[in-house]
Amino acid sequence: MNDQNMMMQKLDTFLSAFRWLNSAHKQDETMYHEMEEVIGEFSSFILNKRNGALWNLMEQQHDGVLSMLVEQLREQSAFCVWALEKYRAMELQKNKQRIADYFKNIEACIETECGSFEITCDSKVLMIGVGAFPMTPLLIAKKTDAEVVGIDIDSRAIDLARAVVTIVDKNARIVIKGCTVDQLGFTKKATHIIFASTVKEKFDILKQLYPLTNKDVVVAMRYGNGFKSLFNYPLEDIGSSHWKIVNNISQEENIFDIALYKKVNGE
Ligand SMILES: C[S@@+](CC[C@H](N)C(=O)[O-])C[C@H]1O[C@@H](n2cnc3c(N)ncnc32)[C@H](O)[C@@H]1O
Repeated sequence: MNDQNMMMQKLDTFLSAFRWLNSAHKQDETMYHEMEEVIGEFSSFILNKRNGALWNLMEQQHDGVLSMLVEQLREQSAFCVWALEKYRAMELQKNKQRIADYFKNIEACIETECGSFEITCDSKVLMIGVGAFPMTPLLIAKKTDAEVVGIDIDSRAIDLARAVVTIVDKNARIVIKGCTVDQLGFTKKATHIIFASTVKEKFDILKQLYPLTNKDVVVAMRYGNGFKSLFNYPLEDIGSSHWKIVNNISQEENIFDIALYKKVNGE
């Protein structure tokens, strides 16, 4: 079997595994360790340089054919990551703290991100897609004591995130809310906005943010293009009338990359 067929077979195996884990999770079956294992394997597979090169070749040769597989893998792996965060938050509540390799990579990505745009104790940070285990707000609070508001569409994730913040750092200036950016007074005050890489509607929300934010706001858009787009939603071309990319941090060893946006005319 040639390399390309082996790659397709491996990706199909991952897709079946994610589907199985996600349906088991929906039936409340505890799949923490299985999820941790598959997500760990998948992120290593995505970060493997040889696989990345082979994928780029396949994309050139079979682009149309691959897009359905890419969308399904991205959606299923994203849901699985969201569920894994919930398990991790529940484990913390049971006072079991063991950090999976996947989360170590995410924390490394967040460090890179924080280093790329100056967050200080006077900053006001809005995280869109905060998740059940709010690593980003916790790391920002620990490093800078900035004020952080995290929003999410999943009420279970919101409850768990609040519990995690209370356990890890109850004095941190972190607030977790279940609302949209237009329902939040904090949006106008935000100096920095961070989008989780698995938020499908992130570019629609970015467009919505233009009139809702102040002129100096900096937006960190987490994304994955090419092979990384099997695990993250990619960058989209949103034209250049409102937002412009002022920096793009792409690191091979990080599971997601970061594009920094600012307003074109600082309006
Ligand atoms: C991987 S998690 C969060 C990242 C991670 N906890 C961190 O601190 O960096 C992504 C979260 O985004 C949420 N999400 C997905 N689409 C969203 C949307 N349109 N608006 C707000 N949250 C969204 C999901 O429910 C999920 O909990």
